[in-house]
Amino acid sequence: MKFFADTAEIAEIKDLAATGLLDGVTTNPSLIAKSGRDFIEVTREICGITSGPVSAEVVALDHEGMMREAEILRKIADNVCIKVPLTIDGLKTCKALTSDGTMVNVTLCFSANQALLAAKAGASFISPFVGRHDDNGWDGMQLISDIRLIYDNYGFQTEILVASVRHGIHVLEAAKIGADVMTAPPSVIKSLFKHVLTEKGIEGFLADWAKTGQSI
Ligand code: E4P
Repeated sequence: MKFFADTAEIAEIKDLAATGLLDGVTTNPSLIAKSGRDFIEVTREICGITSGPVSAEVVALDHEGMMREAEILRKIADNVCIKVPLTIDGLKTCKALTSDGTMVNVTLCFSANQALLAAKAGASFISPFVGRHDDNGWDGMQLISDIRLIYDNYGFQTEILVASVRHGIHVLEAAKIGADVMTAPPSVIKSLFKHVLTEKGIEGFLADWAKTGQSI
């Protein structure tokens, strides 16, 4: 499963990229606002840190406006992935952009039928928001399972990008289902490295090593 960082914070992205485990980045208008940075500038900087897809979201709601914005965004770098909302205009834009060889991430997916439409529109990625789905009383992971089943039934190449990930259980369940990608805040990705017994084990080994009086 690929790991994308869901952030526009440069220091955090560099930090994760240094582990060698970062496969891409997703941003959205809220994350750009949080960064306090210029959208084009920060997206260019992120594209220079990772060679994986970097999602940059359009804000226009109509097809022509989305195409105009996508034209500006895709010039930033070769690894920009245009993010469009799951609406009729969004999918129309998805179809036009992917037919032209541009990567597209269809975002704000909350049903398996929406995911089916995105695949038919040729989306490179579909982003079901599991955390927000759970928050509203639905079962986010059931949604991922349903999408996996439908995509496998028809051999759709669209990658399932599990979004709105809140904790390690979401990552584990998504991996068990066979989701292609997950995007999570850096704090969630870093929490995956940790286990109390790993820390305790290191402590014990170091204490015993000290008793040997040796060095490597
Ligand atoms: C995905 O691309 C979105 O940016 C993101 O995962 C949304 O997560 P949130 O529900 O925590 O805002």
